[in-house]
Amino acid sequence: MTAVPLGATIPVGAGRDAAAPTAYEGALGGPIVDRFGRVHRDLRVSLTDRCSLRCTYCMPEQGNEWLARESILSVDEIVRVARVAAANGISTFRLTGGEPLLRRDIAEVVGRLAELRTPDGPVRIAMTTNGIRLGDHLPDLIDAGLHRLNISIDTLDRERFRDLTRRDRLADVLEGIEAAARSGLKPLKLNTVAMRGVNEDEIVPLVEYAASLGAQLRFIEQMPLDAGHTWRRESMVTREEILSALATRWRLDPIPGRGGAPAETWLLDGGPASVGVIASVTAPFCGDCDRMRLTADGQIRNCLFSNDEYDLVPRLRGGGSDDDIERVLRAAIAGKLPGHAINDPSFLQPERGMNAIGG
Ligand code: 5AD
Ligand code: SF4
Repeated sequence: MTAVPLGATIPVGAGRDAAAPTAYEGALGGPIVDRFGRVHRDLRVSLTDRCSLRCTYCMPEQGNEWLARESILSVDEIVRVARVAAANGISTFRLTGGEPLLRRDIAEVVGRLAELRTPDGPVRIAMTTNGIRLGDHLPDLIDAGLHRLNISIDTLDRERFRDLTRRDRLADVLEGIEAAARSGLKPLKLNTVAMRGVNEDEIVPLVEYAASLGAQLRFIEQMPLDAGHTWRRESMVTREEILSALATRWRLDPIPGRGGAPAETWLLDGGPASVGVIASVTAPFCGDCDRMRLTADGQIRNCLFSNDEYDLVPRLRGGGSDDDIERVLRAAIAGKLPGHAINDPSFLQPERGMNAIGG
């Protein structure tokens, strides 16, 4: 893979979440490769912008503008896009939201996506969820072909959880996590956004909790993606701080072979338990990015932080062919920048919050 320089100054488009041209004149077929040689293998599919929680770093308490129901893609529409993507080498589909389990047809989405094939073999289906009611859904999801789960958990303290998510649902989340651990879906990963003055004192206990369930905890540096635009660099707990906190308790041995994965991982005291850190802000991994995103309302985004959206809806609902859909996917990736510009003074936060982009 071609190395892409990190930390480069990247011109930020004037428009925010603007419609980008979807005309694509290049050849069709074969892997979806960008101008920097990055082959795209992973499509994050946001199934809804709604959520049963209101995490402060993601959504405001009130005043959310939800996507109109009729603008949300149907299962048929999602599967059609995914089929075209798989035919062109996209081999992992990660279902996200908002909260993907809020979709009543979630098992059907998983089942129909799990049947897809790339030219090289079957696809993998993963899901990122807040865990609420996961136990009820798991048997159907596993039957339908779900391969992997990531569950978000930022604190083990009930009051903190309520403050942070504005909902008193810690017990429901823990129940979901424990059901997932029992289900045998492996590897189970838990995601924690580390926040100064909020949960930084739980870095060790959260890892211990995950390890006790045979799961891997991954800390994510807080990113400027909240719909309320309240992110402050000073309140972000950095990769270095997370590693220092972990080192007070364990010897950390780096696990090699990260590939395109966002997380760097370490064995704890020689293993088998391990921990991950996703340092999107202080140590961006854009050079190996193989990810693209489909929003619940049919927009392709080539990066979490891009301000451009490539609209599939006129093709999906206006009689477009599969080739037309492929051209939108390729146009989006042709427009992908070498990296995000979080560390650039001209950085403009995307208009949409994380819940409407898909994690
Ligand atoms: N910064 C970092 N991670 C975030 N997530 C949601 N918003 C942010 C943010 N601003 C996480 C969630 C979930 C995953 C989809 O992304 O906690 O684990
Ligand atoms: Fe919901 Fe996830 Fe956003 Fe929290 S981070 S409000 S769980 S979509």
